[in-house]
Amino acid sequence: MKLQQLIKTTMVTTVTATALLSASAAVNAAQVEVLHYWTSGGEAKSVAELKKIMESKGITWKDFAVAGGAGENATTALKARVIAGSPPTAAQIKGPSIQEWGQEGVLANIDAAATAGKWDTLLPKVVSNTMKYQGHYVAAPVNVHRVNWLWVNPEVLKKSGAKTPTTWAEFFDAADKMQKAGFIAIAHGGQPWQDATVFETTALGVGGADFYNKALVKLDQATLTGPTMIKTFDTLGKIKTYIDKNSPGRDWNLATAMVINGKAGMQFMGDWAKGEFTAAGKQPGKDFLCVPAPGTAKSYTYNIDSIAMFKVKSPEEQKAQLVLATAIMSPEFQEIFNLNKGSIPVRPDVPRSKFDSCAIESMDDMAAASKANTLEPSMAHGMAVSSAVQGAMLDVISKFMNSTMTSQAAAQALAKAAKTR
Ligand code: GAL
Repeated sequence: MKLQQLIKTTMVTTVTATALLSASAAVNAAQVEVLHYWTSGGEAKSVAELKKIMESKGITWKDFAVAGGAGENATTALKARVIAGSPPTAAQIKGPSIQEWGQEGVLANIDAAATAGKWDTLLPKVVSNTMKYQGHYVAAPVNVHRVNWLWVNPEVLKKSGAKTPTTWAEFFDAADKMQKAGFIAIAHGGQPWQDATVFETTALGVGGADFYNKALVKLDQATLTGPTMIKTFDTLGKIKTYIDKNSPGRDWNLATAMVINGKAGMQFMGDWAKGEFTAAGKQPGKDFLCVPAPGTAKSYTYNIDSIAMFKVKSPEEQKAQLVLATAIMSPEFQEIFNLNKGSIPVRPDVPRSKFDSCAIESMDDMAAASKANTLEPSMAHGMAVSSAVQGAMLDVISKFMNSTMTSQAAAQALAKAAKTR
């Protein structure tokens, strides 16, 4: 469903709308209200850095945090506020949905901050284009997350007599050994976006970057229903058998905690998972391993977080918006935020010295993938397709994960989902 339709169908009652409006009437001048979904341990530490910077500039931070991985709940909350005519100052929105919100006419022009900060020169084109609506900056990029990682507990690996997997055969061998040794092989949370994260990483690992691009970016019907997609679902079906029965509804960070605590051996997740390991005082290479998911070492699925600015009336709040955008792009913020978040800075001039081996690998692999044409936008994380297509695809993938649906039926349904308008 398109954003516009969603806005219509999510109409809030007049009572709610009035309540929301009067709440926002109390908005303090030098204040930014920021909607985000960074609520796990590592995420909260990261966003606290932005709050600190804003407060050091005399601007009050009004936290509008909506828990729920990948922002599923945050989007609903944002829609309600926009419909009520009282959008927050800024919100965590990314990828093609920035264009969708732009079309609604509700995003603010922050060219002044971008020009002063030379964003056009600093940012890779793929990033700056996403941050612009009709040629004007409306959002500030925060980071680059790599999605196609496998997080491994080396202790579990050792106790199971398994080795770090790089191929699917090695992966299933390690999973078997972990299960036999009494561990949960794969930590997973059964939520649509987590299911889709595992699915797209599997697609990349089984079919490679070209296949991924044709199927999940270009939405080519023949590729979506072809033998490689069937093989992808077959592999996903096998992965399913190593997930414990308590996974439905589990939050991603609780799944990561299972790997941290040695209850489970491995997790497919983007590098926001590293934020959890780091917040728990764990060291890469020693307490946990970050390895590209099986078959994906030469590819890179990216997920760029950004903060979009909404049209606000008060000149003070508009000024505060530019301060926020400038702070987000500052090298100081990019460094500290990404050290906590598990991601890498979006600007290339941030020193590498404080970053750990996983981040350095991410930086190097991203550059190599960009050259080799194997750098792909994450479908599961709203980088690749419209929110309507993404939503329809997530429904299919979740259905596959939670039923006895065949790979053939899933591939057909996915191809149909790709036609959603
Ligand atoms: C991603 C988002 C990350 C992280 C994760 C879990 O979509 O880009 O910043 O928050 O979801 O919520």
